[in-house]
Formats: sequence, structure tokens, C-alpha cells
Amino acid sequence: MSIPATTNQGQGPAIQVQGLEKSYQQLRVLRGVNFEVARGSIFALLGSNGAGKTTAVKILSTLLRADAGTARVNGFDVATQAADVRESISLAGQFAAVDEILSGRENLVLVARLRHLKNPGAIADDLLRRFSLTEAGTRKAATYSGGMRRRLDIAMSLIGSPPIIFLDEPTAGLDPQARVEVWQAVKELAEGGTTVLLTTQYLDEAEQLADRIAILHQGRIIVNGTLAELKQLLPPAKVEYVEKQPSLEDVFFAVVGDTGDQDGDGDADKGSRHRLTKSTKS
Ligand SMILES: Nc1ncnc2c1ncn2[C@@H]1O[C@H](COP(=O)(O)OP(=O)(O)OP(=O)(O)O)[C@@H](O)[C@H]1O
Ligand SMILES: [Mg+2]
Repeated sequence: MSIPATTNQGQGPAIQVQGLEKSYQQLRVLRGVNFEVARGSIFALLGSNGAGKTTAVKILSTLLRADAGTARVNGFDVATQAADVRESISLAGQFAAVDEILSGRENLVLVARLRHLKNPGAIADDLLRRFSLTEAGTRKAATYSGGMRRRLDIAMSLIGSPPIIFLDEPTAGLDPQARVEVWQAVKELAEGGTTVLLTTQYLDEAEQLADRIAILHQGRIIVNGTLAELKQLLPPAKVEYVEKQPSLEDVFFAVVGDTGDQDGDGDADKGSRHRLTKSTKS
């Protein structure tokens, strides 16, 4: 699949945001947001619930108009060149947009057809393979686990090979294994040259994936840098000693006897492992 020449602007940052503002009635959600995303990089917008992450993504993907400021995506202005922006991007929203009645493969074929691409079946099969969904491909998406559904959603958003992809909380609600699978898929995307802007409220997700991390707080980006740069903002980690409080289990073994080998089999018994200990914490 090749990227249409009209959407491959190739120069300058993939995303440029300056002075972006957005309010919902009295609620000032974005109060002057600035950041840039380099082409082919993974950028994480980190923020707690209600920080305005989805609002920012909606503005960048032309679903919502900003009140003030400018945003350029793939070199196109989101306000005045919305059609060009839409040609350049795809969005996997916060809530998976998979059709549950269709199989995974049918979902992919449907999107490829909607995008008027040739060989929708071949495109679907290629994506099923890339996202380890080949075996599940003919099953209804309703039977998929959360991680499989999320992977299918991301696969659907890749159809047409957009140079820039927005992932709004790609791993929210997934178990650790499914999260790792989605992370792997996102890393492969960036390795293939796609620019990825993802939002997350998980610090470890940003740490694992992102080339740059920006923290959105009270309407502004309060920190923006690489993980190493962000870590330098804090003093070096200190080692401190904390006294461990006894658990009920500790008390139990202390009361019933903590002599080690009570059953005479030569091994230390369980109770011997439960002493009031001092532990270190970094
Ligand atoms: N259409 C709307 N009308 C009114 N208020 C809204 C609307 N959309 C979002 N908000 C409010 O704007 C704030 C930011 O919402 P947004 O969805 O951008 O946050 P978020 O960072 O994506 O949060 P989450 O982590 O929960 O997804 C919230 O307080 C939300 O209630
Ligand atoms: Mg959100």
C-alpha cells in the first residue's frame, strides 16, 4: 500500500500545535496548548481523567473546532484544510469502533472498500497477519477479547496507510498481556515510519512507547521532553529504610510458633519465613 502523493507532505514536523484553546461553556479545558511532533516518532499526551486529551485529539483530527490557536497536521491547517488533514490521518478513538456482528476480516474489508482501495481482501489478510489475528479472522468480533478488539480497531485505522495516526487511550481497560501486544503493534507502526500521537493516563505506557512525553495539566502542557529529560526533573532516587508492619499472617505464625522445622522433616517450615523484617525501598 502506498501513501497517496497529495497527503505525503514529507517536510517539517508531522504535528504543530500553537496556543490551542477550547472551552465547553464555562469550562476552560485547553488554555493555550503548544507542542510539536516529529515525523516517524511516538508522542504521548499524558494526563489524568478530564485533562483534555480527547478534546485535543478531536481538534487535531478535525472532529472539533478550537476556539483559538492553530494546529497543523501533515503541514495542513486543521481549520482551513480539514479535508487534507483527514486524508493524512486516521483515528482510533477511545472506544473501539469495531462492528461486532461482522468478523474481524469483514470489518477490515469493509473499511478498505469504504476507502475505495483495490484488493480489500488482500489488505485485510495482511493486517490480520500483522496483528496476529489470522486465526480469529473469520470469527465474529463480538467473540474477541478486549485486546483482540483493540488490535482490530488499530488495524482498521491503518487501512490506506495514513502517515499520521491518533490513538486515544489505546490500552485503557486491557490486561497486562493485551497491553504488551498493543504496545508491540504501535512500536512496529513507528518503525515503519508512521507518526503516532497517543493519549494515555498510564505512566508506564508513556515510558514504554514514547519518544517524547507531554503532560497536559489544567489546560496546558506543563512538561514536554524525552523520558530521560523528564527523569532529570526529579532529584536522584534515595534509598530509605522502612519498617515493615506485621501482617495477620505474620502474627499467626508468631503465635502458633515460629521455630522453623516443626514437622521434623528437616526443612524449615512456612512460619520461619514470616518474621518481622526490615526491608529496603528505593
Ligand atoms: N461535549 C462536551 N460538553 C461539555 N463538556 C465536555 C464535552 N466533552 C468533554 N467535556 C469536558 O471537558 C473536560 C475534558 O474532557 P476530555 O474528554 O477531553 O478529557 P480526557 O483527558 O480525554 O479524559 P479521559 O482520560 O477521562 O478520557 C472534561 O471535564 C469533560 O467533562
Ligand atoms: Mg479521553
